[in-house]
Parts: sequence; structure tokens; C-alpha cells
Amino acid sequence: MNKKAIITSALPYANGEIHLGHVASTYLPADVTTRFLKLNGVEAYYVCASDDFGTPILIQSEKEGKTPAEYVAHWNKRDYEDFSAFNIEFDYFYKTSSSENIAFVQDVFKKLNDSGHIYEKEIIQFYCNNDKKFLPDRYVKGICPYCKAEDQYSDLCEICGRVPEEITDPKCSLCGQPPTKEKTTHYFFKLKNFSESLSKWLDENQNLQKDVKKYVQNWIKSGLIDWDITRDIPWGVPVPLDGAEGKVFYGWFDNHLAYISTAIKFLNDKGINGKYFWNSADIYHFIGKDIVYHHYLFLPAMRLGINSEYELPDYIPTRGHLTLQSKKISKSRNWYIGLKQFLEYYPADYLRFYLVSINPYSQDDLNFDWDDFTTRINSELIGNLGNFVNRALGFTKKAFDGKVPEPDSFDDKDLEAEQKIKNLAYDVSSLMEQNHLDRALKKIMEFSSFFNQYFQHKEPWKKGPGTANCVYLSVNAARSIAIALFSFLPESSQKIWNQLGMGGEISNSSWNDISVLGISSNHILGDASPIFTKVEESDIEKHKSQLGPSE
Ligand code: 2FM
Ligand code: ZN
Repeated sequence: MNKKAIITSALPYANGEIHLGHVASTYLPADVTTRFLKLNGVEAYYVCASDDFGTPILIQSEKEGKTPAEYVAHWNKRDYEDFSAFNIEFDYFYKTSSSENIAFVQDVFKKLNDSGHIYEKEIIQFYCNNDKKFLPDRYVKGICPYCKAEDQYSDLCEICGRVPEEITDPKCSLCGQPPTKEKTTHYFFKLKNFSESLSKWLDENQNLQKDVKKYVQNWIKSGLIDWDITRDIPWGVPVPLDGAEGKVFYGWFDNHLAYISTAIKFLNDKGINGKYFWNSADIYHFIGKDIVYHHYLFLPAMRLGINSEYELPDYIPTRGHLTLQSKKISKSRNWYIGLKQFLEYYPADYLRFYLVSINPYSQDDLNFDWDDFTTRINSELIGNLGNFVNRALGFTKKAFDGKVPEPDSFDDKDLEAEQKIKNLAYDVSSLMEQNHLDRALKKIMEFSSFFNQYFQHKEPWKKGPGTANCVYLSVNAARSIAIALFSFLPESSQKIWNQLGMGGEISNSSWNDISVLGISSNHILGDASPIFTKVEESDIEKHKSQLGPSE
């Protein structure tokens, strides 16, 4: 394992609240992975930023009578607060509109330009006579020229995932009228020139998901198109060339560069050489499947275009979209659950547990279902894990006054239990290292289930000869669970840690401690009480009825 890592997750647009769909595919898996790496002694930093530029933000700020800078400052703060309440622990959360990012983007552009990867071209831009606006990107909808899907944005087809060169049958997305065409000059990035080097990079990088690589390779085979990287709007990173006054970069040219500029600012401020660190670390970019094109083609091509001065990603964990009650999330139909709102109902760890459990390392969509949430929390988290921890600790309190007894020689069942503890660190980490967070969590649940059965089998309440061994091994198993669970459920694992009377922060533990019998006889436990409370079905019915109209 590389002892240095930088982790990023898709930058949230500073244009609305974070909802469950956002956290499921990117922020939560990235947070769990970062915590895991840190426990393993990796110098890992999780950096993120708000994605501040772009036409939708400009238009929305105008509607609200704010300057774009005021508008994005509001969402930057609010998003950060919501993430923090969910225990998404960024080492640094910054913004794409920072002076550091603006300077960095302009510098990268100049280097690309000097190396001949940029050219100017006169293009036709859509203009809506009804709304009196130029219509970039999401302001034009039409038919995808590749897969013929209808009602697609001009800058991304959500059905085939490709970026159309020109959308067919365009309509203004504000009023539905067909737009007129006006001439303007834009700058283009020669993406086509990178077909071979991108293909080679994809082939050589064994850490990228095979299925994603396959269809990205097919896109390359069917021909890449050069990329229009500028816009005629007053909100964005200015193009640093004479004669380009009034032009800014397209948001997708500047936003991913903030992964680098933000990490470097943070590291330099800490007294670490940011560029050196970036180039010697493992780089992870966590994303949702809708932005594969941008992360597997634009982003690496731009880094290749400046001679890989900044290392390309080692991992781009790509996951599917969250549906809600089996339907696509839609803010306009109120078919979504805000993160802040959810956390008013249930602890962060309930949502973390549920979302990791249902989220495989693949691009398959995952579904948030209130009934399934209730079952998994009540039967698995509480019925299995909460029950075991409470049983083991409660019994030690009651029968031994909270003092861990001296074990005798182990029988076969005890030896099996001891072996389970010794294997747990490896069993879980081998899955975590392959990004299978759901399976890793399942392993911890299986471990807990084993110990529930072990406890039941040993019947310590009968105070027979095996009692001391059962108590000794069970409190040690609870300790192992607490550490293994920390990346997933940080608050609950700290609670277990406190009840075990371990003292201090569980985050200071190291991964290998999981497989050590770290609680010796005579250790005094803290106070035991149930870690979780049940989800009530009557509340769930209320939450369901708060969602928007179903059709
Ligand atoms: O799709 C989005 O929500 C974008 N804001 C993601 C940007 S990630 C980038 F910075 F690479
Ligand atoms: Zn219009």
C-alpha cells in the first residue's frame, strides 16, 4: 500500500442543497475509504471544493438578486455544514472560484496553448429571441445525435453518456422555442490528438474498473471530438489571452483542476511540498457514472497535455445513481430527500450504514427504499450488531461488575472465536482495498453474527465453566468491531469504544489493532447502554408521504 494518498470526490455545484443521491455514490464511499487509509497509517488527505462557475449558477443568482459570488458563498458554506453533519470529514473544503484555482487554470491553459493543444474556431451559438439570452450547455435540449435519445441536454446525453458535438432539433430549455444561431469565436482543446495516449493509459492502469474502461475505449475507437472550452458569459475563469476579453472557461475545463489546486494549497499551507506530494501519492477521484466522460477523457487528456506534470489518477471509483422508492430523483417534483432533512430524523450512522450496504462497487443503480431502510436498521444494525455489543457489555457489567474476567484454557468453540478475531483485520481490509465497501461491511456484520451465536451457545448466564472465556472473547470481539466499523459508522464506533472503557479517540487506533486481543483481564468497562434506537414504522409512513407526487 502506497503510504501517501489524495482523495477527491466530484465537486458539488454551489447551486442547491446536498441530497441523498449526492452522498451515496461519491462523498460517502470517499469518506469511508479515507478513514480506512488513515487507520492503515497512510498519510491520506481528502480534499473537496464547491464547483462555483457555470451558466446555471449565473442565472440562478440573477433570479435571487445576488451577485454570483454571494450566491456561491452561501452554498459553499451550507454544503460544507451538511457534509460535516453527516461526518464526511474533508481535510480541506475549498472552492473552484478561489484565486489559487483561477491562477492554476490559467497557467494550465497557457501551457496547453504553448504546446499546440488549443485552437480558435468560429462557431455558431444558440440564442433565444424569446428569453434574450445566449443558450450554452444545459439551456438547450434536443435529440442526442449518437443514440437518438430525446430530451437531452446539449452538453451531455444522460442515456449514452456522450457529449454531443451538436444536438439535433434544439429547443430553448427555458421556454421551449427553437433558438436562432449567432456567430462567436471559441477556443477548442484538441482532444482528438490524445486518442492514442488515452487508450494506452487506460490499458496500462490496472486499478480502473474494467467495465468502465471497456466502454470508454469504445468511445475512443468510434472517434473523439475536440472540445469547446470557452463560453461568452460574465462568470467563470477569464481566458488569459489578448483578444479573448469577455470569454471565460467552460466549467468542466476548470473544475477538475481544483482537485489539484486545492490539494496543493492545503498541503503547501501545512508546510508540505504539495506538488511533490501529489506526484508521489495514490490519487483517487470518486465519481458517479454520469461524469465518466469528463474523468476518463477530458481530465487525463489535460494532464497528458501538460506532460503529466501532475500525476494522472490511479483510481476513479465510479458508482451508479441513487433512485428513491425506485424512481429517479427529481428536485423539481420534490422527489428527493435533502441530507439536512434526513439528519433531522435519524443519526448519520443509520444513513451511512444503509447507503454503504446497498452500494456495490459497480455502475449499477442503487435504490433508497424506506421499508428496506427500516428492515436493515432494525434487523441488521440493531438486531445483530447492536444486540451483540449490548449483550456482551451488559452481561459483563451485571455478572462481573464490569471487570473483565481471567480466561481459562480455550475449548474448540473459543479457539474458533479467537481465530475469527485474528482474521478480521485481513478479511475486511482485503475487500476495502479492492473498493468493495459493501462486502467489507457485510464481513463485519457476519463477524458480529458469529459472536451472537457464540454467546448464545456458551450460555454465560448459567455461570458454567466456559463463562470467563466467553466474556473475555466477547468484549474483545466488541473492541474489534468498534475499530473495524470506524470508517463506516464513526459516531457509533466511538460510543462502543467509550462503553468498553478504552478512553481517547478511536480514530487514533491502527487497523491491525482489530486482530489483537487488546482487552486484558481485570480491565474495567465503561457504562453500557444500547447504542441504537429502533426505527418506528409509523414514522416511516410519514416520511413516505412527505415525498412529492409519485407521477
Ligand atoms: O456533475 C457535477 O456535479 C460537477 N459539479 C462535478 C464536478 S467534478 C469535477 F470537478 F471534476
Ligand atoms: Zn427561450
